Amino acid sequence: MQPLLHLENISKRYGAVRVLEGIDITVAGNEFLTILGPSGSGKTTILRIIGGFESIDGGRLMFEGRDLAAVPINRRPFNTVFQDYALFHHMTVAENVGYGLKVRGRPRAEIATRVAEVMETVGLAAFGGRYPAQLSGGQRQRVALARAIICEPRLILLDEPLSALDVELRAQMQRFLKSLQRRLGIAFVFITHDQEEAIALSDRIIVVNGGRIEQEGAPEQLYRRPHTPFTAAFLGENNLIAGTLAAVDGPLCAVDTPAGRLAATVDGPAPPTGSAVLVAVRPEHVRLDAAPMPGEGLTADVADVRFLGANVMIELRHAALPGALLKVRRLADGSAAGLVAGQRVGLSWSAGDAALLRAGPAPAAL
Ligand SMILES: Nc1ncnc2c1ncn2[C@@H]1O[C@H](COP(=O)(O)OP(=O)(O)O)[C@@H](O)[C@H]1O
Ligand SMILES: [Mg+2]
Repeated sequence: MQPLLHLENISKRYGAVRVLEGIDITVAGNEFLTILGPSGSGKTTILRIIGGFESIDGGRLMFEGRDLAAVPINRRPFNTVFQDYALFHHMTVAENVGYGLKVRGRPRAEIATRVAEVMETVGLAAFGGRYPAQLSGGQRQRVALARAIICEPRLILLDEPLSALDVELRAQMQRFLKSLQRRLGIAFVFITHDQEEAIALSDRIIVVNGGRIEQEGAPEQLYRRPHTPFTAAFLGENNLIAGTLAAVDGPLCAVDTPAGRLAATVDGPAPPTGSAVLVAVRPEHVRLDAAPMPGEGLTADVADVRFLGANVMIELRHAALPGALLKVRRLADGSAAGLVAGQRVGLSWSAGDAALLRAGPAPAAL
């Protein structure tokens, strides 16, 4: 099926500095797509390119198979919700929301009806007469959303719209955004540097790093099977153990590490045996036993047991893995009670819970 939007091999420079390279992204008509990456990775630049606020140095931007190069900003069927909301402070909420229809020259009665509908949609029906300064952060956020959806765009671009909100309001707005996207049945392209937010909201996540795409996929797929050390480390916590690929049997791999031979699972074709690889295991997937299982996993010494509320994090050291703290997460349900620093324990995991990563060098700076 033809995607709604396709960024084809986009590159971008600011002067001599390359900030995007080989960016290829498709967006389906009704999906919640998140671009996730650390600060400075190029997320805002990608969004500004889609919105038409920024030129490109290579590649094409296609909308329903049509090149957008010649389509000016105000004719693109998108709207942007900026990080700072960019509301007009001298206008009431209703005037802010109706602004897009007013500049399109729609009749007053139609604007009033649509504004009322959209304010209802975002749960602000009673606030039309207020000024932005008389609203809370979450309410201002909803005004910005109402203003973005009133012209019935096919796609909404959202640049870290929740980052200024406190934790509770943020969780509430996440639920609201997701349900709004479902109700409208349009595409959202959402930017965040927060991996939990990305996982909670998205149909699909694109991980960017240093102006390049690291990996893309459904949240669970990225979380369970990162392909690169960057993705493994950026999406939640991982134990990364370096070694050499010793044997491959279908998706199952054996990796020789300083701590012994470990099992892992590879997605797609495995690198040649002898390659430098990493085994990535989530702290919550590591089994912890009083004694090591024969021929399985490794032994390690408890270094610290930390109570984190719902969880307990157990940090361990292995003599052959200097500098690395292994992490095991347990529910704080008493199952980790009795563990003390210095105790020697056995760690193991299912091969299906360990991802094999190619250890290759980190991508060169652009
Ligand atoms: N107008 C600009 N001129 C020069 N460099 C810029 C400009 N805008 C962004 N950059 C640089 O481009 C890179 C990507 O920026 P940006 O897209 O804002 O990243 P993010 O949104 O992921 O934090 C950064 O190194 C930033 O300093
Ligand atoms: Mg940004």
